[in-house]
Amino acid sequence: MMVGSGFLHTALVGLIGLFLGLVLDHFLPLVLNLRSAPRGSFGWPLVGETLRFLRPHASNTLGSFLEEHCSRYGKVFKSHLFCTPTIVSCDQELNHFILQNEERLFQCSYPRPIHGILGKSSMIVVVGDTHKRLRNLALTLVTSSKSKAGFLHDTEKTALHIIASWRDKKRVLFCEEARKFTFSVIVKQVLGLSPDEPQTARILEDFLTFMKGLISFPLYIPGTPYARAVQARARISLTVKAIVEERRRKGGDLNTRGDFLDVLLSNTELSEEEKISFVLDSLLGGYETTSLLISMAIYFLAQSTKSLEKLKSEHQSIRASKQEGEHLNSEDYKKMEFTQYVISEALRCGNIVKFVHRKALKDVRYKDYLIPSGWKVLPVFSAVHLDPSLHGNATEFQPSRWEGPNQATCKKHIPFGGGPRLCPGSELAKLETAFFLHHLVLNFRWRIEGEDTPMAYPYVEFQRGLPLEIEPILSLSELQQDGIGTI
Ligand code: HEM
Repeated sequence: MMVGSGFLHTALVGLIGLFLGLVLDHFLPLVLNLRSAPRGSFGWPLVGETLRFLRPHASNTLGSFLEEHCSRYGKVFKSHLFCTPTIVSCDQELNHFILQNEERLFQCSYPRPIHGILGKSSMIVVVGDTHKRLRNLALTLVTSSKSKAGFLHDTEKTALHIIASWRDKKRVLFCEEARKFTFSVIVKQVLGLSPDEPQTARILEDFLTFMKGLISFPLYIPGTPYARAVQARARISLTVKAIVEERRRKGGDLNTRGDFLDVLLSNTELSEEEKISFVLDSLLGGYETTSLLISMAIYFLAQSTKSLEKLKSEHQSIRASKQEGEHLNSEDYKKMEFTQYVISEALRCGNIVKFVHRKALKDVRYKDYLIPSGWKVLPVFSAVHLDPSLHGNATEFQPSRWEGPNQATCKKHIPFGGGPRLCPGSELAKLETAFFLHHLVLNFRWRIEGEDTPMAYPYVEFQRGLPLEIEPILSLSELQQDGIGTI
């Protein structure tokens, strides 16, 4: 009895101690930085305000959390998110300052569970010299491939293949079609695989599991989406390793195919683990985000007849200047000016990446704010994109707002981030979108079946997969004559 009550007493004291520890750990930073850090609130111990911050909302809106906090505390406020004291920035200038001062004052810092899935050599996770090495390689690969006739041709052929498969359909789930397109393009570009090879199907299946885990609760218990994602990553690594070995056996170091893998194999600076991670980063970065961009363009164009007509006439005139069935080339791409405005506006309104994760490496004083060392810092891109003081009629889809030189490369348009971590794949994503739009607007009309708003969870998704009612612009026999599926 005495032993039992003694144990109970110790357990109770332990529990109270733990609770007080948690409360102290949670509120201490708030008290210590009471006067200097921006205003804001910390919410509950441990979870802080994370659940409210992550509450789903339409991706072309700020969401209630940011709206309420910005109106109460201003565009820069403190909060407690992802178990860490955090500064949230919805301010254009501060966001720019944070992105440009990567590695000097701030550093990329994604939550631990993300490292578990992406692996310790992922470009998103690594910092310092390792990051520089991987990034330089990514930039070289993207710069060389984006203007290569082979890449342009593969991209166009894949777009035509998808669009031709709609010939007898009245309805498609567009997000699925866009994913098929971007996955086929990136798998071909990175690993040299075509869509009908068995390894492609295996990678795609594992990738879908992997993606679900990235946005799931990080609990490593067999059967949870998180654990399944970690296992899926290991399987993708094995598949990629097998492809690498096969390529080596066949003398892949000779660099003859021109895909990313060829270049990787002849690289002597990266470890084997880094090479595999590089392949995964390219697939991950290049697949879902680009397919979402195409879906966003389709979604917003469906509501803007004027923009759609302007886009169509741009592509009609490009097609009119070419022979029947002739490929698009980089000169044609340069002529797609209005298309670039549509893409920039779809990125601004759609907010595919709502914010990025950083941490302060030291105490940073910026204007009136003090950002305490060690705190998480979240530059929110959607807040800049939807700021009415930066964009007139900010809630409206108006591609023409980007007319004029360098409009879409300014501080108020940051869909691809900025500074030393600016997305290396942005040009590939835009080119794929432009080529897909070219053949889509020339061959089909579409209407969204019912309502399907893109939602930020914060990871953006069309809940119903964007169902479209489609109708060919040309008759089926004209479509065949036009060369659909034959390029
Ligand atoms: C619409 C399409 C895309 C969007 C909106 C997008 C957005 C972004 C953003 C915002 C970042 C910065 C992350 C940060 O600062 O923490 C980023 C980084 C990255 N993206 Fe993209 N991306 C897209 C397409 C692509 C494509 C096509 C590829 C590859 C082929 C790619 C590969 C990467 C990689 C490897 C990084 C890490 C760069 C680094 O940390 O230095 N992305 N992307």
